[in-house]
Amino acid sequence: MITNNTICLLPGDGIGLEVIPIAETIIDVLDIELSTKTYPIGWECFQNTGKALPQNTLDAISKTGIALFGATSSPKAFVQGYTSPIIDLRQKLDLYANLRPSKSLPIPSSMPNVDLVVVRENTEGLYIRKEYWKNKTTAIAERQISFHKCEQIAKIAAKLAKQRKGHLTIGHKSNVLSLSDGFFLETVTNTVKNYAPELIINDQLIDSLAHDLIIKPDTYDVIVTPNMYGDIISDVTSALTGGLGIAPSANIGDQCVIYEPVHGSAPNISGKNIANPTATILSISMMFKDLGLHLAANQLDKALYSTLQEGIGTPDIGGNSTTSKMIDAIMEKIKH
Ligand code: NAI
Ligand code: MG
Repeated sequence: MITNNTICLLPGDGIGLEVIPIAETIIDVLDIELSTKTYPIGWECFQNTGKALPQNTLDAISKTGIALFGATSSPKAFVQGYTSPIIDLRQKLDLYANLRPSKSLPIPSSMPNVDLVVVRENTEGLYIRKEYWKNKTTAIAERQISFHKCEQIAKIAAKLAKQRKGHLTIGHKSNVLSLSDGFFLETVTNTVKNYAPELIINDQLIDSLAHDLIIKPDTYDVIVTPNMYGDIISDVTSALTGGLGIAPSANIGDQCVIYEPVHGSAPNISGKNIANPTATILSISMMFKDLGLHLAANQLDKALYSTLQEGIGTPDIGGNSTTSKMIDAIMEKIKH
């Protein structure tokens, strides 16, 4: 039975199948009144059923309004009938903001003093996927920046900055794309000034922002960008604090939220029991906080941090533990 206390689990492909079931263990060990139900999605699902995002899966998420997505594999070249289901979910459910926090972790590969959030517009930009051939040797991709989406993303970024350090950076490329990125910059700036005049607002060209994020990440708080820039710089910010294996996210809409580790299906390590569960655990912790389950979120964060502090981690962060060993260690800490 689906209720509002049911979290839809969408493991997908590859390591998604290894990290998403952790949610059931965590809910069980923390003894929280949430249930889960698992739904098919992704490339294997497409190969079996002809659909990467079955209607039943979409209906279930719409109904409960909350899901945890793993990752799906997407072919590099065009395949008739296949589109990336997470991009479809973001657009169909109007999950207009993608929040990707990056915070220092107690592991050797993490820089100290990083505590920032990339707020990426999640439904338009170049990812509207309007691509076509102009002629046989020239491919075109259209890019969409709309007032409504700029306003929505500006408000969510401003709200977050208000709760945090009060500093907002708008990443753009309006020196080249003066019409579309110029419109993004102007609309986001005006909206934030009206909505939260107390915030410090800066804007920065996205290439220079990528550079400074590596040189002086501690100077940033909330960063808001159009879709593809945010996709790219949030992989950069994940690298600052330990890489893709530790980076969580939330896809936010007015009716639905889908929590998601930033990484993909990682075919190079899937099936080996070495996928880092940290990105998923931190995504689950974000979910608990949004559901008002602060005690559970804190218990989970604390157990994760002390496990990492003890040097228990998967190979991507320099450890020699398996996925299951790391989860067992975290669960043991919660139990005691
Ligand atoms: P990826 O994120 O799957 O892997 C990139 C690198 O990071 C690999 O070396 C991988 O081993 C490592 N890595 C990722 N997550 C890890 C974890 N939890 N623990 C340890 N190491 C981890 O990105 P890649 O290789 O570009 O794409 C692989 C597939 O995933 C492709 O089919 C791609 O389309 C898909 N993908 C799906 C996404 C999604 O569903 N949201 C996002 C990104 C990629
Ligand atoms: Mg990405």
